[in-house]
Amino acid sequence: MSEAAIRISPLEEVGRIVVAFPRATWILICNRIDYCNRPMIPLVDVCHEKGLCTAELLEEICREPEEGSSLAQWCNHDIPGMVHRLIQKHQDLMYGRFEELFAIFDALAATQTGRQLTVTLEMRDLYELLYRDLRIHMLKEENVVFPYLLSFGNTAGDDSRIAGSSPSSLKSLSMEHEDYVGILFRMLDFSGNHSSPSGDDINLTSLHAGLRSMTEDLMWIIFLENYFLFPHARSE
Ligand SMILES: [Fe+2]
Repeated sequence: MSEAAIRISPLEEVGRIVVAFPRATWILICNRIDYCNRPMIPLVDVCHEKGLCTAELLEEICREPEEGSSLAQWCNHDIPGMVHRLIQKHQDLMYGRFEELFAIFDALAATQTGRQLTVTLEMRDLYELLYRDLRIHMLKEENVVFPYLLSFGNTAGDDSRIAGSSPSSLKSLSMEHEDYVGILFRMLDFSGNHSSPSGDDINLTSLHAGLRSMTEDLMWIIFLENYFLFPHARSE
């Protein structure tokens, strides 16, 4: 076992490992480890659940560089800074990359037949389900939870915002997060972790690259909300 891997206790919670090695999130995702909805679980427990060897997984995680990921910088922000970054990311996903991927799905489906077409259309259905639900979810966060988080320290107060960020509404948003990761994992099952053999159709390669990037970003957003923002809102 490498020195870096030995330094991390298998009892360390998954969320802390993710903050230290943000580039390793794709390894967790490919092993269907929902680090964003269960960040407090010790790595050894999640490995036991999944039938994985903890030492091998740690070794793989530690091979990823700690530096250089834009994701890591997010954790250095204070709560308002994190909220502003999340709002930008919401906009980027909802009004940019989601639309682009719909166009790629359609271009790909127009060239396919048989089993390939069936798989593409089933994935597109899941993608559309995710998009529709997520749009409403993000609007609720942007209009209720985020303004509440940004209002901390503002003595003017706003009762309606505070009421909207009650523990029950945060709980329902957290439950929705679990649904989204379930959809993302089903899409990963369909496409073999969004990997394309070399020489594949350019649309298929673009689709897989786009879906991988969207999955990584969306899970990171959910992780930040579950691990940092929602606990902060509950503690106020
Ligand atoms: Fe969310």
